[in-house]
Amino acid sequence: MQIDLLGRTALVTGSTQGIGAAIATGLARSGARVAVNGRSEGRVRESAAAIGRAVPGADVVPVAADVTTETGARHVAESLGRVDILVNNLGVFGAADPLEITDDEWRRYFEVNVLAAVRLTRLFLPGMTGRGWGRVQYIASDSAIVTPAEMIHYGVSKTALLAVGRGFAKQAAGTGVTVNSVIAGPTHTGGVEDFVYELVDRELPWEEAQRAFMREHRPQSLLQRLIEPEEIANMVVYLASDQASATTGGALRVDGGYVDAILP
Ligand SMILES: NC(=O)c1ccc[n+]([C@@H]2O[C@H](COP(=O)([O-])OP(=O)(O)OC[C@H]3O[C@@H](n4cnc5c(N)ncnc54)[C@H](OP(=O)(O)O)[C@@H]3O)[C@@H](O)[C@H]2O)c1
Repeated sequence: MQIDLLGRTALVTGSTQGIGAAIATGLARSGARVAVNGRSEGRVRESAAAIGRAVPGADVVPVAADVTTETGARHVAESLGRVDILVNNLGVFGAADPLEITDDEWRRYFEVNVLAAVRLTRLFLPGMTGRGWGRVQYIASDSAIVTPAEMIHYGVSKTALLAVGRGFAKQAAGTGVTVNSVIAGPTHTGGVEDFVYELVDRELPWEEAQRAFMREHRPQSLLQRLIEPEEIANMVVYLASDQASATTGGALRVDGGYVDAILP
C-alpha cells in the first residue's frame, strides 16, 4: 500500500514530543505538509527541525499555541488557514486519589482532553466538509474502556473523547470526511523508562526491564512490551490516507491487545 498525502495539510496538536512527534513525522514522511504544535516557540521549532532532519525535504510548519484556550485555537486556525487532516493528540494524564481530586482538576482534564479537541473540530470540520475531503482523529487510550481506579478523571475524559469522535462522524456523514478515534495502549514515551525502573530491577537492560514490567504490572497486554510511538503513528497515517476512505465513526485499537475485548 502506497500512502501519498502530498497536497494535504495536517495539524497534530501536542507534537513536540512523544506520540504526537511520531505522528507528525509519519505524516511528513507520507508527503503531508505538517503543522507541529506545542506551547513554546523554542520547543516547537526544535521539534520541526528534528522532523526536517528525519525526513529531508519535509514541509513542516511550527505553530506555537496553547490550544486549550480559545485564543490559542484561533491563532492556529489563522496561521494555517486550510487543514485537511486534524489529529487531536494533545492529552494530559496522571494518577490522583479519586476521593481527593478537586473539582478544578476534573475541569482541567475536561478542558484539555475533551473541549480543546471539540473546539478545534468546530474550527476545521466545516472547511473539510465544504471541500469534500478531510480526516479528523482523536487519540484516546485503553483507559477510555478500562477505567483505571487511580485515574478515573483521565479515563472519563478519554471515554468522552470516543463519544465526541462518534458524534462528529455522524455530523460529517456523506461528506467525504472521515472521523475516527485511535485507542493507544501503554506506550514507550519520555519518562516511561524512569517509571519502569522504579518498579523493576534497575540492573536489567531496557529490553528485559520492560518485559519484566509488562509481565508483572501489565499482564493483560498480549504484546508483552511497550508500544513504540511509531506504531501508533502508523495507524494514524493509514487513517489519514485515501485508502482508509470507508473507515469512519470508529475507534481503532493500537493497544497491543491490552483491552480484553473482541470489539472494537
Ligand atoms: N504515553 C502513553 O503511554 C499513552 C497511552 C495511551 C494514550 N496516550 C495518549 O496519547 C496522547 C499523547 O501522549 P504522550 O504520552 O505522547 O504525551 P506527552 O509526551 O505528555 O506530550 C504532550 C505534548 O503535548 C504538548 N502540550 C501540552 N499541553 C499543551 C497545550 N496546552 N497546548 C499545546 N500543546 C500542549 C506538549 O508540548 P509542550 O510541552 O512543548 O507544550 C507535548 O508535545 C495523549 O492524548 C495521551 O492521553 C498516551
